[in-house]
Amino acid sequence: MNILLVGSGGREHALAWKIAQSPRLSRLVAAPGNPGMAKLCETRAVGATDVAGLMALAREIAADLVVIGPEVTVAAGLADELALAAVPCFGPTAQAGQLESSKAFTKAFADRYGLPTGAYQVCETVEAARAALDQFTAPFVIKADGLAAGKGVVIASTREEAEAAVEDALGGRFGAAGARVVIEEFLEGEIGSLFALCDGETSMLFGWAQDHKRAFDGDQGPNTGGMGAYSPAPVFTPELVEQVRTRLVEPTFAGIAADGAPYRGVLFVELMATSSGPQLVEFNARFGDPECQPLMLRLKSDLVPYLLACATGTLAELPPPEWRDEAAICVVLAARGYPGTPKPHGEIKGAEADFGPDVAIFHAGTKRGGDGKLRAAGGRVLNVCARGPDLETARDRAYGAVAAIDFHDGFCRADIGWRALTRDKA
Ligand code: GLY
Repeated sequence: MNILLVGSGGREHALAWKIAQSPRLSRLVAAPGNPGMAKLCETRAVGATDVAGLMALAREIAADLVVIGPEVTVAAGLADELALAAVPCFGPTAQAGQLESSKAFTKAFADRYGLPTGAYQVCETVEAARAALDQFTAPFVIKADGLAAGKGVVIASTREEAEAAVEDALGGRFGAAGARVVIEEFLEGEIGSLFALCDGETSMLFGWAQDHKRAFDGDQGPNTGGMGAYSPAPVFTPELVEQVRTRLVEPTFAGIAADGAPYRGVLFVELMATSSGPQLVEFNARFGDPECQPLMLRLKSDLVPYLLACATGTLAELPPPEWRDEAAICVVLAARGYPGTPKPHGEIKGAEADFGPDVAIFHAGTKRGGDGKLRAAGGRVLNVCARGPDLETARDRAYGAVAAIDFHDGFCRADIGWRALTRDKA
C-alpha cells in the first residue's frame, strides 16, 4: 500500500514509526514531515493545510490511504476533498471535525445529545464575558472557541486573571479562533485521554493514556499542548472505560452521524474522571500529542489495517487491537520559553544516537541546518519515549535518554507519570 501521512510533529513521527513496521506498506510519504521522519520515509515539503498540494501529492504517489495527523488538516477539509476523489482517508471531514475546531459547537452538541459535561457560556464580547464570569467561581476556565495549537485554554485562579484571559482572546491573540470564548465550569477530578476509532458506523476503543498539561513540575505553570504522557494510566479502571464508551463515545458517533457528518478516524475524548463519573472536557478529531507516542510504543497489532478500516467502512471486520503488556512513557523536551515565546534555533546533540529497542526519540519541532546540525524549530522539540515492564522502568529509561541528550536551550518536566507512580507506592 502507498500511504500519505500528513503532519510534522511528534504524533506524526510516532505514527510513521509504527506504519513503517507494517508488512502492508509499500511506500510511505510524509508531508511535510520532519528530520526524524526523514530517516524512516520520504518527506515532501507540502504544508499540512495546503489542501491542493496534498491532493496533488496523493495523486502523484497513487495513495491507497491518506492519514491525517493534525487538527489543522481536518479543519482545512482535506478529508472532504479526498472523498470527492474517492481516495480513502483516515481523518474526519471538516463538518465532523467541528467537534474539535469549535468548542462552542461541541458544548451545544453535548447539550443536544445528553453528553455529561460542565456548565458553560459562549461569549462574543468582553462585557458578555464579564457577566458570564459572575455565574462561575474560581478557578475559571476560559477557552478560545477555535483552534489555538493547544494554547487557547486558560485556567485562571483569580477573577483578574480570568478577565485578562478573556480580553486577550477576544482582543485577537488567537485571531479568528478567539472571536468567541467559552467560559466553563471547572471540573474536579483526574484527567484522562481515551481514543476511539470509527468508520462512520462501527466504533472501537483504541487505547487510553494520561497527559500532563501544565508546563512545570507539580502541575504548575501555564497550560501547554502536553508536556508528557504515559499509558496505561490507572485512572482508567474497567468501569470508567465502560462509562466513557457508553456515555460519551457511542452517543457522539451516533449523534454526529445523525447530524449528517459520519465520523471516520480517531476521536480523542479528553475527560475528567469525577465522583459522578466521566465528564467531557473536550473532544479532539485526531490522536493526542503526546499521548499517541506511548500508545504507538505499546500497540502490538499492525496499525495500518485499523487506519484503512476507518477509511473504508470495514472496522467491524477487525478484532480489538492488541497491546503489549508493558508501560510506555513520553517526556517532552521543549524550548525554553514555551508555551510563550520559545527560544529558536537551539542546537541539539545526541538525540540521534541508538538508545536501544525500548527507547524511541520522536521529533516534534526540529529542523536540520545547512551544517547538518539538528536544531529546535518550535515549542515542543523532542519526545523522548520509552517502554518497560512497568512504568517505573519505562520512566527511568526515558529520563536516562533525556540525560544523554544535550539541548542547552531546552527544558522538560522531571515528574512525568507522577500520578501513577505515586498511586503505585500508596
Ligand atoms: N495532549 C493533548 C492534545 O493533544 O491536545
